[in-house]
Amino acid sequence: MTAEIWNIWNESGGPKYPHEKVIQFCFRRFYPEIRSETKVLDLGCGSGVHCIFLAREGFQVTGTDISEIGVANTKEKLSTLGLKADIYVEAADLLNFAPSTFDCVICIGVYDSAGYAVAKNSIPRVSEILKKGGCGFFLFASDRDFRIKGENPLGLHGYSQSEVEEMFGNTFSKVYIDRYITTYQNRTIEENDWLITVEK
Ligand SMILES: C[S@@+](CC[C@H](N)C(=O)[O-])C[C@H]1O[C@@H](n2cnc3c(N)ncnc32)[C@H](O)[C@@H]1O
Repeated sequence: MTAEIWNIWNESGGPKYPHEKVIQFCFRRFYPEIRSETKVLDLGCGSGVHCIFLAREGFQVTGTDISEIGVANTKEKLSTLGLKADIYVEAADLLNFAPSTFDCVICIGVYDSAGYAVAKNSIPRVSEILKKGGCGFFLFASDRDFRIKGENPLGLHGYSQSEVEEMFGNTFSKVYIDRYITTYQNRTIEENDWLITVEK
């Protein structure tokens, strides 16, 4: 069921531009000279907007998503642009990679899409596949987000603070729990995301 919904979502092609916070995070942490040696996993890559951004900037990119359409879109866009990345259909709570494979994991708008049970199992897997000293960046809806209220056709889960604290708990050596809040239409609409940065 989940993959079906997200196949439909990915049929639209996904966002056109990378999230500004992803750009800031990656550029601040990884200077151009080290990017070709930096392995980044885009967990829940959707139709590839962040894989494309990262590959263009010279990172070694792997992308995973549960949606076959998302994966196909990502591969096609990369190929059209002459960019390289390894893209797989893979569930967020499986992540079948060897321990200590990645320097960085980004995960944008996925844990709200996948739900609490998947996210809770995914986080220890992320920790395993990150190298020591590696970092992670997660963005997902909080329970205050406008998308959670009303119809919520995608069935997004908005996370409470206690859920976030429990999920990220003691898994990493450093965890920073922040929010990214954007308002629209005279603040009648509030997008309210958790912005989590971790270091192993
Ligand atoms: C809102 S989209 C975001 C996609 C991409 N990260 C971006 O920023 O454009 C959410 C993505 O999460 C994926 N997803 C949902 N549940 C998942 C799961 N259990 N495992 C892996 N990916 C999942 C969906 O297929 C979808 O592509």
